[in-house]
Amino acid sequence: MKQSVKLIAGNWKMNGFAADLAEVDALVSELAEEAAACRVALCPPATLVQRMADRARDTLVEIGGQDCSPEAKGAFTGDISAAMLADAGATLVIVGHSERRQGHGETDAVVAAKAQAVFEASLAPIVCVGETLAQREAGQAVEVVRRQVMQSLPVALACQPFAVAYEPVWAIGTGLTPTLQQIEEVHRAVRSAMIERLGLGVMAVPILYGGSVKPDNAADILAVPEVGGALVGGASLKAADFLGIIRAA
Ligand code: 13P
Repeated sequence: MKQSVKLIAGNWKMNGFAADLAEVDALVSELAEEAAACRVALCPPATLVQRMADRARDTLVEIGGQDCSPEAKGAFTGDISAAMLADAGATLVIVGHSERRQGHGETDAVVAAKAQAVFEASLAPIVCVGETLAQREAGQAVEVVRRQVMQSLPVALACQPFAVAYEPVWAIGTGLTPTLQQIEEVHRAVRSAMIERLGLGVMAVPILYGGSVKPDNAADILAVPEVGGALVGGASLKAADFLGIIRAA
């Protein structure tokens, strides 16, 4: 089956200062020179969303947040709503990253509430799922990811723009990646769980792979059936590395 255009999204995590906006300028100017065959997004820390969005306005590069509150507004000190990210120029928001699920105790129910909040702000969520090493070694990877998909996607997302990102926790920032067969197996399971949950309207929704994607392994990973793009951490921080991945798509 022909898949829709791939999405290559960078997650800067808690990295980046004003000086690093030069990387965005470099990315934008390189992409202006060549017709990228994919969608490109960058998700900086909240402090840089507005400035990055200003620099990326009217370019191919979409800007996203890395997290948001499930609440719309009010007395939630330190939290940022999806509407605030939209106001700053974001069009996407990552929710349910394993660094939020593990480090901040976010359950599938919390992730679903955040994805719902993103939808209500008219933005597109990138909903992350992925098994731990212990779960993979216990033969539970597919089962865990299936459950996360079923419970983290609000029904409101049927027929809406969004993406799912499969990020095995043990592959994040480690230089380790699953085999291409393992990636295909989980991506197929994600697709069938999405259909079960939201219906056939999700056939073209991209399922991104994330976890140690680099310029030298991107082409192989992006060619796997059902891989609709990549969610890239470390290799998205420098325009040259990120462009290497974009060009592989
Ligand atoms: P790395 O690409 O640094 O492994 O990070 C992946 C990730 O967590 C993206 O969200």
